Amino acid sequence: MCGIVGYLGKNSALPVLIDGLRRLEYRGYDSAGVALYLENDIQCVKAVGKIKELEEKIGYYEIKSPQPLFTKEGNYKKSPQPPFNKGGSCLGIAHTRWATHGEPSEDNAHPHSDCSGKIWIAHNGIIENHKALKEKLEEKGHKFKSQTDTEVIAHLIEDIYNNELEKLKSPQPLFNKEGNNRKSPQPPFTKGGNNNREGLLTDSLIKALKMLKGAYGIVLIHKDYPDKIIAAKMGSPLAIGLGDTETIIASDISAIITHTKQVIYLDDGEIAEIDKNDLRIFNIDNVKIEKEIEEVNWDIGEAEKKGFPYFMLKEIFEQPESIMNSIRGRVMEREGKVKLGGFDSVSKKLRDINRIIITACGTAMHAGLVGEYMLEEYAGIPTEVEYASEFRYRQPIINKETALLAISQSGETADTLAAIREAKEKNALTLGIVNVVGSSIAREIDAGAYNHIGPEISVASTKAFTSQVAIMALITVYLGRQRQMSLVVGERIIKELLLIPEKIKNILGRNDEIKKIAQKYMNADNFFYLGRKYNNPTALEGALKLKELSYIHAEGIPSGEMKHGSIALIDGNFPSMFICPKDSVYEKNISNMEEIKSRGGRVIAIATEGDERVKEIADDVIYIPKTLEMLTPILATVPLQLFAYHVSALKGLDVDKPRNLAKSVTVE
Ligand code: G6P
Repeated sequence: MCGIVGYLGKNSALPVLIDGLRRLEYRGYDSAGVALYLENDIQCVKAVGKIKELEEKIGYYEIKSPQPLFTKEGNYKKSPQPPFNKGGSCLGIAHTRWATHGEPSEDNAHPHSDCSGKIWIAHNGIIENHKALKEKLEEKGHKFKSQTDTEVIAHLIEDIYNNELEKLKSPQPLFNKEGNNRKSPQPPFTKGGNNNREGLLTDSLIKALKMLKGAYGIVLIHKDYPDKIIAAKMGSPLAIGLGDTETIIASDISAIITHTKQVIYLDDGEIAEIDKNDLRIFNIDNVKIEKEIEEVNWDIGEAEKKGFPYFMLKEIFEQPESIMNSIRGRVMEREGKVKLGGFDSVSKKLRDINRIIITACGTAMHAGLVGEYMLEEYAGIPTEVEYASEFRYRQPIINKETALLAISQSGETADTLAAIREAKEKNALTLGIVNVVGSSIAREIDAGAYNHIGPEISVASTKAFTSQVAIMALITVYLGRQRQMSLVVGERIIKELLLIPEKIKNILGRNDEIKKIAQKYMNADNFFYLGRKYNNPTALEGALKLKELSYIHAEGIPSGEMKHGSIALIDGNFPSMFICPKDSVYEKNISNMEEIKSRGGRVIAIATEGDERVKEIADDVIYIPKTLEMLTPILATVPLQLFAYHVSALKGLDVDKPRNLAKSVTVE
């Protein structure tokens, strides 16, 4: 996930681009860059780190609010650094990066250019076939400067553009020797007026887009087209702001609405060509599309959260997309197989592994517990889960057939990092599921899979958990297929996993219903969360969400364990949240639910759509769609996240920053 901004107008581009980057910084902040059309050329500056590093490098503060040239101490103050000391530019693009391919570095920072330095691109998304395209382009002599998937787009366009330019330079006779009418140009070069230089850039982009697989939001400028900026969208968001004298393109409207509230949202497969006096939107077949201009009525504070009152709610609602981002490009449905690029280097070693220890903290640890059930049931590998903070204080029995799998959203949790180091000391193969690219844990492990879900800002983890469980399912298929898992089983898991995003959308549609239930129970002082088998970890996660957000005491217990002591606490003021989908332990869960009801306890049940029996027993029911048993924790967690969110919001608490907590715990 990255943030991109583009500007074409009558004003100075740089302040708009930098301000836009600041507002998009939540989308990633490992490096940033800006490319401006200046003095008949395109100049680019990049910096590693947050936007302020970029500002520092280009002397941006001095441009915005000129300071005296001499400070009190008589030292010469920094003036804008070259190349941005040359006055105003009215065309430019900028990018703030959240690394996916290639470590955070200046070379890998966007914008990226082609060999000639004429084409400049900022990109958000992942080009899945970049390796194959890069190889072909390198064979043709293209020189790459970065490890990113993005750079391939610039070279690909350059390649197509140059070929077409050559054709234009050496026109062919209209009739060939045989007197037959020569073939007419093929689409997209058939569309009126495009077989001239003016349409060449857009046509080359279209041709290039047809060769890309994956997701992109792109803004592009070209040295020979000082009045043009082009944008294209497939999978990654892009909006176009239409001011009186300027056009701004950005990943989200937070970078636009301080300048204009008139916005066009691009849809997948759409391309926008913006000239000084014209805006044309068309599809990949160059067919013009009429788009509606929308009036945005948010203020800037809301826009950063995309209109959601809290980042947590925004992140809960992002889950259909974030899970898809975690799965995309990693499944081969027909072969019932999973490919995890990060595991390639250790795939042989993984065949010999006969034991897995999963280690993590907090929410990530709950995802690990779901993984334990998956790996044992479907991959046949003995697995145990250990709190990272406990792992190294035991004498863990580790040999070279043991793999340690660390799960961490931030990749910086000190306990998890320490557990990895301890396992490495004892010769274990170390694996990871990590969200933040280039983080300490990502660098420390032997091999891993990134979540690809973008920054998670709210302290209470939501989209990271569901993605971690989805990746556990991918790892299960990966390891299972190396062992006894059949093609059919692999295929089935993948098929069901691909349906999860749509099913989450269905649950999100019940948000108002869940809010009403939260209203009903928000004044309870205690809560039990109960579940069995795959949903025992779901119960732990639901309880953690409620206590960290609402400060209500909540305990997650295996449903079967409740009768061995905890049931003594049950009365009319001690409600229980039962995770009770129609799975292999359904009947047992129903019995436990009855046990609570017969002692005067109140029950909220998470049940499978159409289950009338649960409705008769529980006081309130939240339905989730049916899925494979091993994937139910992903679906069942979503209403629990919403429930905890609403209780906290209704109590007037700071949902995104609960007291005493931190997003990334870097102390042991
Ligand atoms: C903190 C956060 C939790 C998170 C845990 C592990 O306690 O508040 O939400 O689950 O750390 O973080 P990690 O970044 O390693 O997943």
